[in-house]
Amino acid sequence: MINKLHPLAPVTGKVRRLASRLRQKLIRPEPRRPLTAETLDLFAPDFVTNPFPHYEELRRSGSVHFLPRHDCWLVLGYDDVLSALSQPQSFSSRVEEWMAVDSVLLGADPPEHTAVRRVVGHHFSAHALETQSAFAEEAAERLLRPLADGKTCDVLREFTAPLSEDVAAHLIGFDEAALAAIRATQDTAKDLGQWLAALDSIIAGAAERMPIYGQLLRDGEGRLGHAQVRSLIRFLWIAGTTTTRRAIASSVLMLLRHPSMRPVIESDPALLSAFIEESLRLHPPEHSILRVATAEVELSGVKIPAGALVKLCVGAANRDPARFAEPAALLLHRTPNRHLSFGGGIHRCVGAALARVEMAAALRVLLRLAPRFSAVQPLETLRFTGFVNDTEQLLIER
Ligand code: HEM
Repeated sequence: MINKLHPLAPVTGKVRRLASRLRQKLIRPEPRRPLTAETLDLFAPDFVTNPFPHYEELRRSGSVHFLPRHDCWLVLGYDDVLSALSQPQSFSSRVEEWMAVDSVLLGADPPEHTAVRRVVGHHFSAHALETQSAFAEEAAERLLRPLADGKTCDVLREFTAPLSEDVAAHLIGFDEAALAAIRATQDTAKDLGQWLAALDSIIAGAAERMPIYGQLLRDGEGRLGHAQVRSLIRFLWIAGTTTTRRAIASSVLMLLRHPSMRPVIESDPALLSAFIEESLRLHPPEHSILRVATAEVELSGVKIPAGALVKLCVGAANRDPARFAEPAALLLHRTPNRHLSFGGGIHRCVGAALARVEMAAALRVLLRLAPRFSAVQPLETLRFTGFVNDTEQLLIER
C-alpha cells in the first residue's frame, strides 16, 4: 500500500517482479540436460561434492557404462561390482595407478599376490588389534582435549588425520623422527611421484629401527627384497592413513546431521558398530576400485573389451536399491550390512578390522568429551555430502 503512493512505486514493483522471477529461477533452476554416460564428468565440482544423484540417474539406464570423457568403464550395480572383485583372473589389479603406489600387494595378481597377502596378514592379528584399539583411544583423547576445553577443532586436520597417522605409525613402528619426517613430506612434496620417493627414502633410513622391516624380509622367504618390503610399508602407511581419516570425518559429519543418534550409539557398543557400518556404506572414503580387463568380459550383458580400465563404483553399489532397502537412509537395524567399502575378493582390505576399531575409539572419545558438539558453520552451507578428499573443512565446537 505504501509503495503505491511512493514516487518510486512503479520502479519498486518492477524490481520486485524481477527479483521474484530470479528467486523462482534459483529455486527451480532451468531443467538440466539429462545425464548420460557420454556427458558424465567425474571431475566436475557438482559430481565430486555429491555424486549420488548422478549415480542414480545413470543407474536408470543400466549398471555398466562406458565413459568416453575418461576412456574407462563405470560399474554401478552391487552384483556386478562384487562379481568383478571376485574374478581377479578377468579383472586384474595390475592397473597403472595402483602399481605406481604399490605393485607388490595392491597392484599384484595371483599367484604373486597370494603369498605376500599371507605375510602381511600376520601383522593384523586379534592381539595387534586390541593394542591398536587402546592406543587409538589414548591418541583420540589427547587430540580432542582442546575441544573439550572450549577450543574449536578442525575435524580433518586437528583430529582425524593426526589420529590415523598416529595409529598407522604405531602399527608400522615408525619412531618419532621417522613420523616427523613423513609428516613434513606431506607439506613439501610437489606431486605423487615426489611424495612416494620421499617416503621410500625415509623408510630406508629408518629400516633398522623398525622390527616390521626385518619380519617382512624374513617372512617373505626370499620372495620379498628390500625394495618390495619398502613398498609394502609405504603402502601400509598410505592405506592406513588416507582412507581412515576421511571415514572418521564422514562419521562425525553424520553425527552432526543425525544428533538423535548420539545417545543411542554411546550407550550400546553394538549400535555404535551398526552406525559405523552405515557411515562406511553411505560414505565410503574411496568411491571406486580400479581394475583392468584381461580379456573381453561380460557384466550384466555388456561386453567390456580386453585392456579396458574399469572403475568398480562401491559408492553406487552400496546404495543399489536391488540390494539395500531404503538405500539412502541411515538404518541402525540394517543386518546384514554387506557394503563394499572395504572391497571384496582376494584384495579385500586387510586393515578393515583396524579401521573399525579406530573409528569406534574416535567416536567413543568424541561423544564422551564433547557430547553436544556442534558445527561452527551452518550445515546447509557445507558443499560436500561426505569426506571424499582432504581439502574439505569442518569446524566443530563443544
Ligand atoms: C575406512 C578405512 C579403510 C577403507 C575404506 C579401506 C578400503 C580398502 C579397499 C577398498 C581396498 C581394496 C583395494 C582393491 O581391491 O584394489 C583396500 C585394500 C587394502 N587396505 Fe584398506 N581401507 C581402509 C583402511 C585400511 C587400514 C587402516 C589399513 C592398514 C593399516 C589398510 C590396508 C590395506 C591394504 C594393505 C590393502 C591391500 C590388500 C590387498 O591388495 O590384498 N586399509 N582397502
